[in-house]
Amino acid sequence: MKKMWAGRTDGALNKIADDFNSSIHIDSVMYKEDIKGSMAHAAMLEEAGILTALEAEKIISALEKISSDIESGELLIDMEAEDIHMFIEATLTEREGELGKKLHTARSRNDQVAVDTRLYMRGKCLEIDTLLVNLIDAIVEVADKHKYDIMPGYTHLQRAQPIVFAHHLLAYAEMFKRDLSRLSDAVERMNYSPLGACALAGTTYPISRAYTAEKLGFLGYTKNSIDSVSDRDFAVELLSVFSIIMMHLSRFSEEIILWSSWEFSYVELDDAYTTGSSIMPQKKNSDMAELVRGKCGRVYGDLMGSLTMLKGLPLAYNKDMQEDKESLFDGAETVIKCLEVFAPMVRTMKVKSENMYRAAEGGFINATDLADYLTKRGVPFRSAYKTVGEIVSHCIKSGYVLDNMPLSEYKEYSDIFAEDLYEEISLKTCVAKRISEGSTGYASVEGQIEDMKKFISEKSR
Ligand code: ARG
Repeated sequence: MKKMWAGRTDGALNKIADDFNSSIHIDSVMYKEDIKGSMAHAAMLEEAGILTALEAEKIISALEKISSDIESGELLIDMEAEDIHMFIEATLTEREGELGKKLHTARSRNDQVAVDTRLYMRGKCLEIDTLLVNLIDAIVEVADKHKYDIMPGYTHLQRAQPIVFAHHLLAYAEMFKRDLSRLSDAVERMNYSPLGACALAGTTYPISRAYTAEKLGFLGYTKNSIDSVSDRDFAVELLSVFSIIMMHLSRFSEEIILWSSWEFSYVELDDAYTTGSSIMPQKKNSDMAELVRGKCGRVYGDLMGSLTMLKGLPLAYNKDMQEDKESLFDGAETVIKCLEVFAPMVRTMKVKSENMYRAAEGGFINATDLADYLTKRGVPFRSAYKTVGEIVSHCIKSGYVLDNMPLSEYKEYSDIFAEDLYEEISLKTCVAKRISEGSTGYASVEGQIEDMKKFISEKSR
């Protein structure tokens, strides 16, 4: 295809170089944003007296037609084109002749691609926002059903203290809630229009950047034209947010995989979200969770790729920056796909509370509570800690657990111990007596669930 920029050169690129240079395979997804940006630009050119009302109207309706023709499949995007901006402009010129050539007045592809990418990512972030809220909703639904179900809480993957399953799940809800807030911060910073920065230095035409910014739903326009066309901070920021979301999903995946194992058997994923083995008939594998865990690395790669691409780039636009969309779009799509499969997987998983309870019962998970028993009766915590450590060691040697060691043997360690200790260290009491804010105690967990529900309904309004 003859290049629109032919002039200084004959525009006849070597075929391999031409393919190498093209970004249409990645930026064609932004056709709607490109057209929206062009329509706002044309309207502004009219306001500024650069286009006549008739010219602007013709250009705008031709652009609308191009958009609906692409949408309906009537117009196929030419994959030989250099990029989506060139394709839309060339189509406009093909259809409108000389008039089409006026659209690019007081604009450059440098500000055009910057505005398109921001518009496109604004839409993707909205999708991710909705998906995150839906995931939180799924978590809260499961938590609500299991707010009194006791399981072992872990540190170092060793049984630590009894908690309720809802409390564990709600920890993830908190993470995804922070992700939502990080996402909205990043979107707010990105939400300024670079359009009108032109190639890098601005323009001699009396354009109105405020006009296009407002028309395109931005909070305002970027202040420095050189920065406007060289800045890809928004891409790096969004990819950081995506990486953190993936890190959270990956930790959650890891737990779901562990919990689904025969050894734990805390949950069973619905058949719709598991796969079998081609050789081992007994298998039910947590492939979705494993893939999500795996794809986390891919999004980290996207972040590293874009940081590295930008490192050392001189101002203003450089072609290196065309690579930004490969990582940014891949990161967004990966997060979207993972969230889409993850929420229903969590919502439909079967929770095997009996197994969780049994796992909590067996060990010495209530040892802290036994130490607290002594402490509340006047023994300094450190001394109580030491005494209970010795009791645990004695239990292990004699085949007891704390709940069934006879009181007479307890008395050998301290005569403070009385019959009520057994009630004090029962798993239920351990949980019920956790009264601090944010704890695993029933009241605290019920409160956390209520807060999350309120958050979800406010977000969904
Ligand atoms: N396809 C290009 C990109 O994605 C558009 C901007 C091209 N600008 C230029 N001066 N060659 O970055």
